Amino acid sequence: MLEVRHLSAGYGVTEILHDISFEVRPGEVLAVCGPNGAGKSTLLRVLARQVRTSAGSISYRGRSLLGDSPSRVVTRGVALCPENRRVFPRMSTEANLRLGAYTRSDRSAITADVERYLAAWPVIERRRHSPAGLLSGGEQQILAIGRAMMSRPSLLLLDEPSLGLAPVLIDQVYEGLKDLVAGNDMSVLLVEQNVTKALELCDRITVLTEGRIVFAADAGATGPDEVGSHYFARSGGTPA
Ligand SMILES: Nc1ncnc2c1ncn2[C@@H]1O[C@H](COP(=O)(O)OP(=O)(O)OP(=O)(O)O)[C@@H](O)[C@H]1O
Ligand SMILES: [Mg+2]
Repeated sequence: MLEVRHLSAGYGVTEILHDISFEVRPGEVLAVCGPNGAGKSTLLRVLARQVRTSAGSISYRGRSLLGDSPSRVVTRGVALCPENRRVFPRMSTEANLRLGAYTRSDRSAITADVERYLAAWPVIERRRHSPAGLLSGGEQQILAIGRAMMSRPSLLLLDEPSLGLAPVLIDQVYEGLKDLVAGNDMSVLLVEQNVTKALELCDRITVLTEGRIVFAADAGATGPDEVGSHYFARSGGTPA
């Protein structure tokens, strides 16, 4: 469904991602782990067409994404839930959710999707009219994921959903993610530093270090120690 071949990208003259190739299959959760600064968020921003590429190709459902604007990418079914759960703090919880449907015009279906998401998450439903900035960190993460879901993605790009959350909240967010993956016909590209949690959710896992994919394995065939051992490896991995 998503095929990335020999992708290089960065900011200005600084190349961050070097010759990356991988694919995400239909219905699969592919995790990308790796140390700080490896380029994980940059990779998701490239796929959301917020960062330009300097080489390579990105094919989504058989057609290139490279000429598409960020909003066109959303229309094609690719949604980014960015790092640090960027909700709009002064807007209400419900208004934040509705923002995620900005590329859609089917008003009654949008309302139904908003209600369904809120019904699944009583902790944010109770605060639907409150400013999103008053939600706890975990609640804001659930809201940010919901906002991305409002475009009805077939590929969800999820950037570090556990970041900055207490363990009990991480467990809650991941339980919610498992339900979302089970209940929706979509693939997920999951960027996650918490390898244990990533392995609970993903089908395959890769390690990105210094802008290169250095390791890829089926989730059932590896473990946190092996994945972690590749964090500071410089090369020698297999492409995903
Ligand atoms: N807007 C930007 N302009 C210039 N350089 C940037 C920009 N955003 C990120 N970088 C640089 O790109 C590199 C990769 O950053 P990126 O945020 O993709 O890493 P990451 O793997 O997501 O790290 P983390 O785990 O800390 O979130 C870093 O060296 C960073 O300083
Ligand atoms: Mg990041």
